[in-house]
Amino acid sequence: MTVLVVPGYDLLSALAARAVAELARRRKDLVVALPTGRTPLGLYRRLAAARTEGAVDLRAARVFGLDEYLGLSPDHPAAAARTFRELIVPSLGLDPRRVRPVDGLAADPAAEAARVEEAIRAAGGLDLVVLGIGRNGHVGLNEPGSARDSRTRVVSVAPESRAALAGASGARAPAVPQRGITLGVATILEARRVLLLASGREKAEILRRAVEEPPTPAVPASFLQEHPAALVVADAAAAAGLRGQYPRIDSLDAAGAAGWPGAWLAGDGGATTPAELSPAGWTVVHHAVDPVAAAVVRGLLEAHGIPAVLESDAAPSVHPFGVGPLASVRVRVRARDIGAARALLRGIEPPGLPNGR
Ligand code: PGA
Repeated sequence: MTVLVVPGYDLLSALAARAVAELARRRKDLVVALPTGRTPLGLYRRLAAARTEGAVDLRAARVFGLDEYLGLSPDHPAAAARTFRELIVPSLGLDPRRVRPVDGLAADPAAEAARVEEAIRAAGGLDLVVLGIGRNGHVGLNEPGSARDSRTRVVSVAPESRAALAGASGARAPAVPQRGITLGVATILEARRVLLLASGREKAEILRRAVEEPPTPAVPASFLQEHPAALVVADAAAAAGLRGQYPRIDSLDAAGAAGWPGAWLAGDGGATTPAELSPAGWTVVHHAVDPVAAAVVRGLLEAHGIPAVLESDAAPSVHPFGVGPLASVRVRVRARDIGAARALLRGIEPPGLPNGR
């Protein structure tokens, strides 16, 4: 997983659109899963504008819906089917025959989930999944409790998600369906690339947990840490809770100059910028305020055959209790070593700055 911070929603949307457009240029018959909800609306607006200018052509793309509520009329404002039909398909210029939203009215929802999974497999797997993040850490309708190996399936919609949806769609909470179908966590993790968009202050706390705490079913988005080509683009408000240092990009020009999103798309797992920050795609497994402690952790990992790198803030941060200047040091390992590293470090110190400091 790689995290990129931008000042606001406009640049978040523009960067996401550039990533999708660039991927579509590289692969005409791109296979992509798209979400509904508020966060990706700016991305869709930008893609629609790019299409008008002839800068992107998604006619040959194969598009899947990320999720859908069960039993909702396709005309309901909260139905993904409606967003696909009225917004995504026409504005992005998709070929309706190549678009496969989840059918929330299927007579046998479990069979529909299996058909979606099979259609993705038949399409050769997903090149890209675009995701938002729920305030409870859900991705798609993978609500807290979703297992890492879960596949496309029928799920219960969490009460907090129903309340959020009711607020967003103008429906009353009781009118929001209790069940839905979602691409599974494993289905998402098998995509070749994942783009998660997080915008707004109300996502800050959950984004911190998703990015900086160990992966857990309690925060399904946290499993993306294990994906070598997951890119999280967060605006400053959503990134406000993050403790680590992440590349910050202030403009589209700066993004281009720093290789965004080209480096990510090139398949190296999302080269971080500035280049010295970390090896591409390596993931933080430990935070320390003391460089010596971080070096000990690194030594422990390497003694067990797990290559690790240290990364520290350029300017040491000042200890809030005035004990003296301390650095913030992070220990990163390769994506394939995350599980082993976490097992080894369990009990040493939770990621994130120690309590009370
Ligand atoms: P939002 O929803 O984009 O409307 O905030 C995100 C989600 O719940 O997945």
